[in-house]
Formats: sequence, structure tokens, C-alpha cells
Amino acid sequence: MSGEYGPATYGDRIADCYDDLYSAPEDGSIDLLVELAGSGPVLELGIGTGRMALPLAARGVRIEGVDASEAMVAKMRSKPGGSGIPVHIGDFSGVPAAGPYSLVFVAFNTFFGLLSREDQTRCFSATSARLQSGGLFLLEVFVPDLSRFSANQTVRAIDVGVDSVALEVSRYDPRTQVVDSQRVLIAGDGVKLYPVKVRYAWPAELDLMAESAGMQLKHRWSGWMREPFGPDSRRHISVYERRR
Ligand SMILES: C[S@@+](CC[C@H](N)C(=O)[O-])C[C@H]1O[C@@H](n2cnc3c(N)ncnc32)[C@H](O)[C@@H]1O
Repeated sequence: MSGEYGPATYGDRIADCYDDLYSAPEDGSIDLLVELAGSGPVLELGIGTGRMALPLAARGVRIEGVDASEAMVAKMRSKPGGSGIPVHIGDFSGVPAAGPYSLVFVAFNTFFGLLSREDQTRCFSATSARLQSGGLFLLEVFVPDLSRFSANQTVRAIDVGVDSVALEVSRYDPRTQVVDSQRVLIAGDGVKLYPVKVRYAWPAELDLMAESAGMQLKHRWSGWMREPFGPDSRRHISVYERRR
């Protein structure tokens, strides 16, 4: 992938089909976020097309967002209630918003869109600085599974139809923990490419970043219904609390 991939690339390239690919929030997610938000206000990092933010706003949560992709935010703005949600356009590594917030959250592996350990650490510090005393930072991210790679790369069939095929082609660098992927859609009207780049981090690495930012782990679940996190869990929902 060329060096032109930046904070807005993923969103700008996928905005037109994002809502067709990813459906409503998972059961339990909005209830849990409403409960953790308390009286707010709340900030979502990588707010995107408002998949999580719009139902939260509809439940009365005072929510703002950060996103680098104007195209993603324009999709949210076109939906009922979307124009009333303040969005700070920019890279969320520095958390360009004021606060203080009762809850900052980053869902759907979006935190791993920060592509270096330095940017991820900076995001924890900037988030901590924008939380109320005792405020919470929630992340939903996958647990890295390096067994899916062979010789540091993999190709996966996402969908195989009569007239189309969707593939995911990935390569990773164990030194940086960065995975370069392309979703490749091949159909009658040609080939479409949807690039996505992530820098994975292990749960313990995230806990260290949180501790160095003045936060400590309060909860770790494997799902939005507070399912326990175990050795076979494929993802985690981790909630860090800013020390008082
Ligand atoms: C997978 S989407 C998630 C959108 C929404 N949170 C949801 O759950 O559907 C990731 C979003 O994060 C944004 N994003 C990725 N990296 C970013 C960065 N470094 N700074 C700001 N926004 C970023 C993208 O533009 C996109 O809107």
C-alpha cells in the first residue's frame, strides 16, 4: 500500500457503502453505554456514520464525536438527528475536543486505526486529560490472532457469488504490529479496493498505556452483554477509569 494512507483514507473510501456493510449496533451495546455515560457528556472517537452515536443521542445522551473523514460524517449528518451531534474533524490521536466527559468510547476496532505505539499512547493521555475525575474510557477491540497469518500474510474469502467475489488480503509486520489489508471486490462492473490499516495491541499493552495515562482497568468483558473475558475470547470491551 502506498505511503498516502492517512487518518481519513479508510472512511473516505468506504463511506458510500459503510452502512450497507455494517448493520445496527449489537444487542446490549447502547444500554451499556447509556449506563456508563451517567449524566454525560460523552465523546465517541471515530464517530463515523453515527451507527452508535445516533441511537445514543436518541436515548437522551449528550454526545459529540471526532472523525477524520468528512465523508463519513456527512453520512451521519444526512440521517435524522445527525445534524445535531457536534463533530470535531481531525485525527483522534490527540483527541481534539474539550470536555470534560463522563465517558469517552471508541468502538468496532477503531482504536487500532492509530498506526503507531506513540499515537496510541498519546490517545490514552489526551483522553485521560479530557475525562472528568472518575470518568471512563471504553474500547472495543479484537484480540490479536496471529495464527491466521502464514509467512506474515493471508487471503480470506469474504463472499463468493456467481458473478462476484469479495476477498480480504492482509500482510503484517511483527516489528510494528501493523496489518495492511485490502478488501477487494471483484464484480461485473470492475474491481473495487477498500484499504484498511490497523496497528494491533495486546490487552496487557493497552493496560500499560492506560496506567501511564493515569487510568486503571475497571472492567474487561468479551461482549456488550458483559460476557466474561476468557482465554478464547476473540475481542474485548475494556473500561478504564481515570484515577480521582
Ligand atoms: C470502523 S469505522 C467506525 C465508525 C463508528 N464508530 C461505528 O461503530 O460504526 C472507523 C471510523 O474511524 C475514523 N477514523 C479512523 N482513524 C481515524 C483517526 N486516526 N482519526 C480520526 N478518525 C479516524 C474513520 O474515518 C471511520 O469513520
